[in-house]
Amino acid sequence: MNLSKELLLKLIDITSNSAIACYPYIGKNEKILADKAATDVMRNSLNKLDIKGKVVIGEGELDEAPMLYIGEKLGNGNGPELDIAVDPVEGTNFVAKNLPGAMTVLAVANKGDLFSAPETYMEKIAFGKDLPNNIIDLDNTVEENLKNFAEASNKYLDELTVCILKRDRHANIINELKKLNVNIKFITDGDVTGALLVSDKKYKVDIFMGIGGGPEGVIAAAALKTMNCNFKGRFIFKTKDDIQRAKKMGINDFNKKYEINEIIKGKSIFCATGITNGDLMNGIVKKNGKYFTETIITHEKSFLELVKKDVSIT
Ligand code: FBP
Repeated sequence: MNLSKELLLKLIDITSNSAIACYPYIGKNEKILADKAATDVMRNSLNKLDIKGKVVIGEGELDEAPMLYIGEKLGNGNGPELDIAVDPVEGTNFVAKNLPGAMTVLAVANKGDLFSAPETYMEKIAFGKDLPNNIIDLDNTVEENLKNFAEASNKYLDELTVCILKRDRHANIINELKKLNVNIKFITDGDVTGALLVSDKKYKVDIFMGIGGGPEGVIAAAALKTMNCNFKGRFIFKTKDDIQRAKKMGINDFNKKYEINEIIKGKSIFCATGITNGDLMNGIVKKNGKYFTETIITHEKSFLELVKKDVSIT
């Protein structure tokens, strides 16, 4: 079934059911239980698929994650060989505190096409389509990147909006943005969504930048690529342990700047269901004996498509 419509429909079921599994934990301050509930459902459901899958982005490495660890084999072994990236709960804080933006995420590609990312941070920049890829570089200053972007998009600096995670490590970038009089959209968590906000003018975000999780970077890149958007990333390896883990995954250039085509080599499917309401889709609603879910998907050259589903409560 490779990256077929049939697989896509099954993935929508899987992220929907994983999100529903999280529903009882919304606002209960139980990050770990919420993540476990979604992870269990996601893993069991993926194991029923006719695929020979392997987790390339997961809940951690074997020594730190008992389920959906990097390298874990998934599926019944009777189908296409696929690389799978999972993030059963993107925004565990959002679920714990009943805040907007939590979602369940999966990305799938043919074997060898999805970058296997270590559990480290990544410097990231994402921006929209119809702009030359080379106007932005991770080694440029914030000012250079923003001025190039403004010129290429025919806008003034004070008309641009940059989305960034609110973190102390971003103090210098934020100061630069303020000096340039650029608008800032702060997010407190959930930088997969942050990066995807560049995909459509309706979100009013021109550029996403900053340091966040490496796995989240790869997952965002899978969606951005199908929408012809731009993404650039560079992993940050701080400790000897980080470098050791990276080497085990076949990474030898520790300062490499990755382009989107190197992170996602071929076609991919990205599928995310809202747990709580967010910028991209609404969260789960429980009503009249049913759960109502909203899922966004990208497939080949499709735009972000919204799929609504209802699931009877059994
Ligand atoms: P979790 O859902 O795993 O808690 O991750 C949320 C998140 O905000 C990611 O979206 C982001 O990439 C990462 O955490 C940022 O890490 P940190 O909170 O350490 O800055």
